Amino acid sequence: MRTYVSKRLGSCHNCGFCSTYIFCRGTAPCIGCGACVAACPFEARLLEHDSKQRKMIRVKVDSDSAEVLECITVLDALESLGYVVSRFPREGDVFAPCRLGGCWACAVIIDGELKPSCTTAVRDTMNIQTVKHEVAKHAPLRLVSGFQGHSVGGVGTPYWIKPRGWNYRYIEAACFAHGCILRCPTCQNWEITYSSVEEPLTPSQVARTMTRQRRAYGVDRTANLRTTGYPEFADVIKKYPWAETSEVFFDECEEQFGAKFKQLYSSKIDYNGIIL
Ligand code: SF4
Ligand code: SF4
Ligand code: FES
Repeated sequence: MRTYVSKRLGSCHNCGFCSTYIFCRGTAPCIGCGACVAACPFEARLLEHDSKQRKMIRVKVDSDSAEVLECITVLDALESLGYVVSRFPREGDVFAPCRLGGCWACAVIIDGELKPSCTTAVRDTMNIQTVKHEVAKHAPLRLVSGFQGHSVGGVGTPYWIKPRGWNYRYIEAACFAHGCILRCPTCQNWEITYSSVEEPLTPSQVARTMTRQRRAYGVDRTANLRTTGYPEFADVIKKYPWAETSEVFFDECEEQFGAKFKQLYSSKIDYNGIIL
């Protein structure tokens, strides 16, 4: 059985979101990753199944040879081989929370490169490595965009520094991390939450860009705003590599400006967190 996406023509408003913001890694044929289905604001895309026979292809996973169906995602291929795929951290072999190609938490090494397994098509002769210490040798990647001065702050910004009335001014430099586990029809950050076309960045690249932004806007705060609803709180946040963005940022700045830096500037991560 194959999973593929079909379009409900009557519901499509030709908004262009699926062709502009989605990096479809399974074109011709569709691999049924579902990224464009979740992203369509008009629910005009559906995942369907057909019963066409499909070929088996040969891949190498963690040094073992294996056969998997063609035209599926790497994540589905791993699951078909018995790997445990989890939506929660530390509960399986591959953690895949957003399944949109945004968070890259599901990244594995594919032919020597880090790639998101949830949206990458499995190919014949592919070499896939999932072993965590091998994956950890690559700098973590994630889609991050919208580097800008922020005038309103987020949930983690102290209320007393937020401008009131007509006192409009920038209070922090912000950026937005992509990928979300929620599917709110009223999402205010649709083009960030569902977009997968940007180049993924390392924490260090984000830290440097944020530093430039902070200087350009003349502010002393940085905010990594996650439009993610990640299942991460307190100790879990600490263990997820992307939460280290702020720490990398501080370490690099401390090296550059000396220990006093930490007393002068502040950095925060905002979560649209959910309690499990
Ligand atoms: S995102 Fe949905 S409504 Fe917009 S063009 Fe694509 S299918 Fe049509
Ligand atoms: S984004 Fe995924 S589900 Fe949508 S057409 Fe591409 S491969 Fe198929
Ligand atoms: S789970 Fe694959 S990119 Fe988020």
